[in-house]
Amino acid sequence: MTREVVPGTVYVVGAGPGAPDLITIRGRALIEAADVLLIADSLVDPAHAAAAKPGARVVGSSARTLEEITGLMTEAARRGEVVVRVHSGDPSVYGALHEQLVALRAAGVPVEVVPGVNSALAAAAALGVELTVPDVAQTVILTRAEGRASTVPDAESLRSLAAHGATLALFLSANLIDRAVGELIEGGYRPETPAAIAYRVSWPDERLIRCALGDVAASMRQAGIDRTAVVLVGAALGDDAAVEAARSRLYDPAYGHRYRAAGEA
Ligand SMILES: C[S@@+](CC[C@H](N)C(=O)[O-])C[C@H]1O[C@@H](n2cnc3c(N)ncnc32)[C@H](O)[C@@H]1O
Repeated sequence: MTREVVPGTVYVVGAGPGAPDLITIRGRALIEAADVLLIADSLVDPAHAAAAKPGARVVGSSARTLEEITGLMTEAARRGEVVVRVHSGDPSVYGALHEQLVALRAAGVPVEVVPGVNSALAAAAALGVELTVPDVAQTVILTRAEGRASTVPDAESLRSLAAHGATLALFLSANLIDRAVGELIEGGYRPETPAAIAYRVSWPDERLIRCALGDVAASMRQAGIDRTAVVLVGAALGDDAAVEAARSRLYDPAYGHRYRAAGEA
């Protein structure tokens, strides 16, 4: 089924973590239909730009301000062009999406968001782990250390989030990793808590390192990783007996539900 592409609309598309084939079919079709393609070129593979139709205007956004980006999108949409804004991963997570939506809506420009594969979820896939193992962890926290360009609300300090003991995905924190790990341990994770460093997931130079939380900073330094990494933390990443034995009731032969009677093998 092909969806109608409406000229004069801005489509914000999540390109996924890196590999060009980890974009949705809808996202790819929009890139092919774009008259103007604005790409977050610091994290999005140039192969996406190469899929644009001949004559499409391709613009990198990494060296531009919000005003320049939204101004360019607004003008092109008002000319009746199909505008596609490509973000890494999913646009709704650390994608500076909100401020663009506010500006486009204020300008009366129709906008539609197309989701993408978030890099923490791509990291879980690459590691071959479930982030929500039954009876071990049923909550995933996506968060970051406070950085130079972004403050974090007090109630969301790493110390306070750590108290939940949930699975936690740490974004945008590779260069702040000593402080971040320190706060997570002060907040309640044991230094032995299983962790994984996922660098440039799905890119040709992807690196996956499993270690204990207390060793994360040293492992990253040793591997020379100081950007584009997600750090996953939590008991669900472990291989101890509790994790190995965990299973959901849904597929338990003794548990019946509308699609299967209890007692069937
Ligand atoms: C500006 S945020 C964008 C996040 C993106 N919207 C997402 O949904 O994954 C950039 C941060 O996302 C993470 N990231 C993005 N792509 C990644 C990848 N391929 N591998 C590991 N981490 C990645 C890193 O933490 C990086 O510092």
